[in-house]
Amino acid sequence: MGREQDHERLVQLREILNRASYRYYVLDDPELPDSVYDQYYRELQALEARYPAWITPDSVTQRVGAEPLQEFQTVRHRIPLYSLDNVFTLEELSQWEKRVNKLVGEVEFVCELKIDGLALALTYEKGLLTRGLTRGDGHLGEDITTNIRTIRSVPLQLQIPEPSELLEVRGEAFIPFQEFDRINSERAEQGEKLFANPRNACAGTLRQLDPRVVSARHLNFFAYSLPNSPALTQDQTLAFLKSCGFRVNPHWALCRNRKEVQDFIEYWLTARHQLPYGTDGVVIKVNDLHLQEELGFNAKAPRWAVAYKYPPEEAVTTVQDITIQVGRTGALTPVAELQPVLLAGTTVARATLHNQDRITELDVRPGDSVIVRKAGEIIPEVVKVLQELRPSISQPYSFPTVCPVCHTPVVREDILVRCPNHRCPQVLKASVAHWCSRAALDIQGIGEKLIAQLVDTGRVHSLADLYTLTLDELSAYERMGTKSAQNVLASLAHSKTKPWPKVLFGLGIRHVGQTMAVLLSKVFPSAQALAQASIQDISAIYGVGAEIAQSIHHWFEDPTHQQLIQALEAHGVQIRGTDGQTLLSESLLGQTFVITGTLPTRSREECTALIERHGGKATSSVSKKTNFVVAGEKAGSKLTRALELGVKVLSEDELLALLQAKLSQGKLPEPE
Ligand code: IVH
Repeated sequence: MGREQDHERLVQLREILNRASYRYYVLDDPELPDSVYDQYYRELQALEARYPAWITPDSVTQRVGAEPLQEFQTVRHRIPLYSLDNVFTLEELSQWEKRVNKLVGEVEFVCELKIDGLALALTYEKGLLTRGLTRGDGHLGEDITTNIRTIRSVPLQLQIPEPSELLEVRGEAFIPFQEFDRINSERAEQGEKLFANPRNACAGTLRQLDPRVVSARHLNFFAYSLPNSPALTQDQTLAFLKSCGFRVNPHWALCRNRKEVQDFIEYWLTARHQLPYGTDGVVIKVNDLHLQEELGFNAKAPRWAVAYKYPPEEAVTTVQDITIQVGRTGALTPVAELQPVLLAGTTVARATLHNQDRITELDVRPGDSVIVRKAGEIIPEVVKVLQELRPSISQPYSFPTVCPVCHTPVVREDILVRCPNHRCPQVLKASVAHWCSRAALDIQGIGEKLIAQLVDTGRVHSLADLYTLTLDELSAYERMGTKSAQNVLASLAHSKTKPWPKVLFGLGIRHVGQTMAVLLSKVFPSAQALAQASIQDISAIYGVGAEIAQSIHHWFEDPTHQQLIQALEAHGVQIRGTDGQTLLSESLLGQTFVITGTLPTRSREECTALIERHGGKATSSVSKKTNFVVAGEKAGSKLTRALELGVKVLSEDELLALLQAKLSQGKLPEPE
């Protein structure tokens, strides 16, 4: 290729990659499969190596160009970074609002989530990122420009046609939970000290002198303010920041009165736990920027904004006892029985200690003072023992060597300690509860109490015994009227129509979750087929590892389980699929796919079959109606067409991930 074509290609690649990176990191809506991105990235790198003069500072390759620094320079902020005043109750919040009303009258507010990260101040000169500082003491910050350049959601160049001479952007750098977990498990593997929380990890990372280390830890950034905004209001400012190419947190609201502000706060109190990053409150800002100016600042914080902090999710309490719970697979889970404590708005009296290793690691003992944490729906857990408060008579806890329920010696498998007795009453109770759960056979009216009675009186020895219960018997149980007994029987009868994947899931085989059950039922359309399969047969399925295959094979080898299957079949439970060609799920219903190029593991026919068996349609040409293009190697004009039309492009892995995600939303086939 000639020099001219090279230049054209380089410019093209730079644009494609910048756009792809924006779509991926800012809009969270990728348009290119990772593999294609990587391929283009390498091509651009090679061209830039050949023609260094053509490298521009906004090229994606320039995010991690810099050499490690000796130290950071301290720099004075052009405009100081103020902090926020905090309020902790709605009462305090309403006092703040009254003060605002007194000074400037009735106003509108913008409520934003308070992201739990670190404030950064970015300087753009003529649209180019020239400097990035930490908050420091609000007046002097550290120049961490090279590190900030590695944050993919920070634009190196603003996406607006005529950027002003100087633009200062403020926002929050943070590390999402998933990335935090990844960093910590990597550190654990290398024997390094773990970060206590994502915020510390973020602070530690930004202080790294080697930008390559920073780049490898995927930091993220939400922009939230512009000290000299060209706009008239905060909501317009957010829109402007977005148009510049920044990632702006989408969860903000314009609130016209106190009630709307309170609703926002209340909603996010629990909803925030579904977010993939940490938040610790809500920031309430006066929307009108002129009024903001009028209100001004006190010594350290603006009068026009306030942070409402959510109640802490960690508290100190004492462990009164350590007890053991036995689960459906026989796993022994240690539980800390706590002096009840108020935590994130609820009273907590028990916290999980996960497993034996966790107890050893924490060295937690009865009588210890501990820190417990509860976030949203997450089960409360003990995160730290306050060794300095330990009573002198305390003894290390020794994990039981026999099952606390049936006294069978326990076995240790990997990190789990298990009761190996299939007839352990507790294992049976938990299995029955799992069988009846919504995601499995969805049998209503059989709760914990009834299960305990059924098992303890010896009436139910296996799942199949449930189907022999009579009306008289059931109504005789404690707190069971005739009506509820009838309902239980009706629900049991209905459970016999549930499809094979649900039954397979309900059997409670280790490692066979909902998605796995659907996957298995596709290849093994009956319990018999699965029982006859070898470990090799099972692990030959894409997505099924050797450990899972072993666990399944092992389960079916057990004579008690074979009897169970026979008994269930005799009662009319669906232990086989109705037809090899029935839909496995309707997860992809209404979705049109085009497959192009060579996929890594599947032929085009196999991929088509997969899509169709989940209710989707595979066609051969890309149009506006196409929902997804599945692209493999050497994808040609169909991929180009998809990109032109803005059709979402998936790799084979991403298709599977999409399917898994849909399946785990519980869209399993309903009985015909
Ligand atoms: S506005 C003049 N908005 O909270 C102060 N801050 O406790 C402007 N923070 O230093 C700050 N999310 O690091 C603002 N949506 C948001 C925020 C936010 C997180 C942080 C910021 C600030 C700290 C104050």
